[in-house]
Amino acid sequence: MSNAVKLFEPLTIRGTTLPNRIVVSPLCMYSAIDGLAQPWHFSHLSTFARGKAGLVFTEATAVEARGRITPRCLGIWTDAQADALKPITAFIESMGCVAGIQLAHAGRKASTRAPFVEKGGSPLNQEDAERGDPPWQTVAPSALPVTDGWPLPRELDTTDLDEVKAAFVAAAKRALSVGFKVIELHMAHGYLLHSFLSPLGNQRDDAYGGDLEGRMRFPLEVTAAVRAVVPDTMPLFARISAIDGKEGGWTIEDSVVFGGRMAEAGADVIDCSSGGIGGAPRFRSDDTGKPLTTDSARTPGFQVPFSRRLRAETNIKSMAVGVIIDPHQAEEILQSGGADLVALGREIMHDPFWPLHAAETLGVDPDYRMWPEQYAWAVDRRAQIKALNQDS
Ligand SMILES: Cc1cc2nc3c(=O)[nH]c(=O)nc-3n(C[C@H](O)[C@H](O)[C@H](O)COP(=O)(O)O)c2cc1C
Repeated sequence: MSNAVKLFEPLTIRGTTLPNRIVVSPLCMYSAIDGLAQPWHFSHLSTFARGKAGLVFTEATAVEARGRITPRCLGIWTDAQADALKPITAFIESMGCVAGIQLAHAGRKASTRAPFVEKGGSPLNQEDAERGDPPWQTVAPSALPVTDGWPLPRELDTTDLDEVKAAFVAAAKRALSVGFKVIELHMAHGYLLHSFLSPLGNQRDDAYGGDLEGRMRFPLEVTAAVRAVVPDTMPLFARISAIDGKEGGWTIEDSVVFGGRMAEAGADVIDCSSGGIGGAPRFRSDDTGKPLTTDSARTPGFQVPFSRRLRAETNIKSMAVGVIIDPHQAEEILQSGGADLVALGREIMHDPFWPLHAAETLGVDPDYRMWPEQYAWAVDRRAQIKALNQDS
């Protein structure tokens, strides 16, 4: 395999080696029952391991029941929920890939409907209660609704904050005990930790609000507390919304400061997404990360400027995500210093064997040696038959 192709260069972070730079971005499936992984989750995540993504993340996995986005989200607040994930981590590892988990608390964006049901994404209400899915009280840094018409969350007091932090720590320990090798803290998309960071979600007047320092305090405390239980050999990631893209919101400059502080708190990689604080979609930006428009247009690599800046201006590694489609595009992002890792969501759902196909396209796996052995010999024969038929 050619070392010149960065997409397939292994990356060691602390003592953990990712076999390549391709990451399966966290993807909610809204298919869990009582937070427990189902056969769907095994099938969904193991397919990406067969496709040889270097790091396969679970969907946002709630650290407590009220932190689920929907009633069908994965959870890891019980040992039974952790155990249900064990076959998944074991399979991912058996393919030579690394299993990661995104630990999450949805905060004031909890208690909603899955996107693919009627009125998807909106808050649960009495109609859902009648169907067996009652809404629950959401929590947040401040008693501010996501947007007009959404339920008012309860403001967390400092005792609650200790409990939420403890829930993240307990979840991390459970995740490690069932074979996850990478933990990502979800601090993006308007969920609990993001809403602490953003002035649009956090209007507290205690030590956990106010200026940037105050707003960063709780996410940094959670990071340090989780780091304390993660072995030194294992990486800790955090996904942030690098910009809110809204007047008076979190900016790329805030992200640069936060990235540096996250490194001090023990994080290794910042995964750079954007938006979501008000339930709104993510936004386009120019090369400096400045929002260009407030529409929802998403062009290839539209969030790469954020990961590029974090990487250049802090001593933390970065991951790019968002409309990364083509292997050449992914390679260019890495070669030009835009990120250390690329994460794919919808594209890899469309083609779960994207990494293997990318290796073929970039010429690093001409003999299909990267494929699972059960397939490799037959796929190689397929190529020979195809070539013979083309010749004749
Ligand atoms: C079905 C679906 C579920 C998602 N679930 C999560 C999630 O659990 N956690 C998260 O941080 N982002 C989630 N996202 C965002 C993706 O991880 C990714 O950042 C986004 O889709 C942009 O990448 P893409 O253009 O490659 O899809 C989800 C996106 C989709 C399409």
